[in-house]
Amino acid sequence: MVTLLGVFIVLLCSKLLLALFKFFYKFWWVPTRIKYVMNSQGIRGPRYSFIYGNNKEISNMITESTSFPMDISHYTFPRVQPHIDSWLRIYGKNILYWQGPQAELVVTEPKLLREIMNVREISMGKVEVWPIYNKMLGGGLVFSQGDKWAKQRKLATHAFNGERLKNIVPATIESVEVMLKRWNDVGTKEKEVYKEFKTMTSEVISRIVFGSSYEQGKQIFEMQGALSLLAAKNMSQTRLPGFGMIFKDKDDLETEKLLASIRDLIMQMISEREKKMISGDEENSGIDYLGILLKARHDIDDNYKLSIQDVIDECRTFYIAGHGTISLLLTWVTLLLAIHTEWQEKARKEVQEVFGSQNPSSEGLARLKKMGMIINETLRLYPPGICVTRKVLKETRVGNLVLPPNLSIQIPTLALHHDIEIWGEDAHLFKPQRFSEGVANIVNNNPGAFIPFGYGPRICVGANYAINEAKITLAMILQRYRFSLSPNYVHAPVQCITFRPNFGVQIMFQAL
Ligand code: HEM
Repeated sequence: MVTLLGVFIVLLCSKLLLALFKFFYKFWWVPTRIKYVMNSQGIRGPRYSFIYGNNKEISNMITESTSFPMDISHYTFPRVQPHIDSWLRIYGKNILYWQGPQAELVVTEPKLLREIMNVREISMGKVEVWPIYNKMLGGGLVFSQGDKWAKQRKLATHAFNGERLKNIVPATIESVEVMLKRWNDVGTKEKEVYKEFKTMTSEVISRIVFGSSYEQGKQIFEMQGALSLLAAKNMSQTRLPGFGMIFKDKDDLETEKLLASIRDLIMQMISEREKKMISGDEENSGIDYLGILLKARHDIDDNYKLSIQDVIDECRTFYIAGHGTISLLLTWVTLLLAIHTEWQEKARKEVQEVFGSQNPSSEGLARLKKMGMIINETLRLYPPGICVTRKVLKETRVGNLVLPPNLSIQIPTLALHHDIEIWGEDAHLFKPQRFSEGVANIVNNNPGAFIPFGYGPRICVGANYAINEAKITLAMILQRYRFSLSPNYVHAPVQCITFRPNFGVQIMFQAL
């Protein structure tokens, strides 16, 4: 008996010791070592606080900078990322800070970032800091790695490029018409355009991914929206190892419930579609993304075969990636054109020259040069994603630096887009003429300086589609309305995963 008790106590003590060892390894030893390695290469940053890293000060700084609206200025970087702004001023172009015990290297030197994003050991590494955020996009293309990424990327590139992109034009026109019909009885009235564009773009992506009506996709959209809010709420929280597996808080339970409901709904759509495909009932079943994915589910080549979970993950990924970002692009463009009405007039004149009062066609979109410049300048000042992150998979040399494994890397898009060394003293002003020689000119002269769609092998697959959808929507609005900023608008951009207006964007529309 005594011996058994003794063995039990020894086992318990060794377990406790092991847990203690793991705890100190993660929260003290690893940060201390990474700090030493990076400091010795000249990379500095704020002090690491045990367990929390810099999370508390980041949270305080953001709460303070966003607790009141700002004047209408486009210099939003110090408001949205005050911590990065102040640390870049103190510690130099590349800095190291701490998300809990996780080291984050922030890189703002275009040359270094180009190298980083093109090195395979880093460009393929995806950060897993916010588990709830990962849950949102699951094993879809945004977070996948290695062979799985290559397979998914090939399917997505096939679906969202070249000839297939043309099919997107009628789907977009149809959804914009639904929105404009709602506006038709408006006269001169105020509209909150962020809400309008979220509804419209989710309808477009619903048609493109599911080929189904908005009503069926609407429920998924609402649940994904609730998941995004939960993810944003939990973003800067530090969790002890294994905590989430043992204790589930209210947000964990709510997340699981939402995920299960989304899965059930997509499963239902898949099974309806498969029945139709088998009975030959579904016309054009390979045209939408679900059709392409379901075909890959039965691919004879195992390398390209998708599991049902892959199909679900991919549908969710595109649903999220395909409307959240474009609705923001449209919202910020509308705001900028409502403020800078001279550019609104230029864009309208161009649309009338290219399309008259006809609906946009895919051939004409490429001729909307001024609108292209306006869209690029909007993506520069208000990029929907304000940073891109990576993880170093194994020790890698880039430039003069040797980066240790598991180091997170953050490329702060917003900081780069507002950098006066790159863009000049007027970097914070809306000047679409910067892009008059085309985006390629800017990118060739200073690669890595303009990265709204990312950089390197993981650059956005939906970029062309996003630009085309934005052009179609803006063209159709400009053909029908002149618009200005409502006195009710409050300028309060915030980061809530994406870069969005905290109180929406209120615009006054006047029918032409
Ligand atoms: C204005 C609109 C958009 C912006 C600003 C945007 C931005 C981005 C950025 C910055 C990345 C790179 C992320 C990284 O490197 O970690 C990315 C990747 C991605 N985007 Fe977009 N995006 C937009 C629209 C879309 C659309 C419409 C779709 C699909 C319908 C889409 C699907 C994706 C996917 C699947 C990836 C991951 C690619 C990979 O990892 O290989 N995006 N996007």
